[in-house]
Amino acid sequence: MVKQKERSAALEELHQQILVCTKCPLATGRTNAVPGEGNINAKVMLIGEAPGGEEDIQGRPFVGPAGRFLNELLALAGLTREEVFITNTVKCRPPNNRTPTNEEMMACRPYLEAQIAIIRPKVVCLLGAAALKALLPELKMTISQVHGQAFTKSGIIFVPLFHPAAALHQPKWKDILKQDMLKLKALLTQVLKED
Ligand code: URA
Ligand code: SF4
Repeated sequence: MVKQKERSAALEELHQQILVCTKCPLATGRTNAVPGEGNINAKVMLIGEAPGGEEDIQGRPFVGPAGRFLNELLALAGLTREEVFITNTVKCRPPNNRTPTNEEMMACRPYLEAQIAIIRPKVVCLLGAAALKALLPELKMTISQVHGQAFTKSGIIFVPLFHPAAALHQPKWKDILKQDMLKLKALLTQVLKED
């Protein structure tokens, strides 16, 4: 299909731009930019905070400890890495894994918006506070208040979740996150059957 080819080309072109981007100071500290990866026809997109150490080295999202946990979580929701698309609010690793600044998130935002526009997911999971703030700023609520709930905006269903890296060492959050993945599975069954 021509349309599919054009979308793939557009995504590829966008990712090439990200790899050489110098629009914010994070460009200086990175080994590799991490544009994101996955299925261009994904119904489900996941947005984390920023690449960590392993991601920076490999140039791929969620390949460190948080990524291994994320794979388990996806399975609970009946999903595989191959069928989703995974990216972050900023594409380059902040020094010492600090939280990205508002300026960095704003500089990187057009890439995220372009990815959403090309992939057109039905459901976007917001992993952690940074993604929540970036995509649902008007909510003005914390992850603890809204995790596992669905918010529809511009035709997309957003689901805030605890960040897997934060939950990994917090048994209480880990259980909540697992519960939320089961909720997500139920939501997906509902939403995707309407297709
Ligand atoms: N944490 C994130 O938020 N993103 C990654 O890609 C890896 C760890
Ligand atoms: Fe560019 Fe985003 Fe990397 Fe900043 S974080 S240099 S805006 S790709």
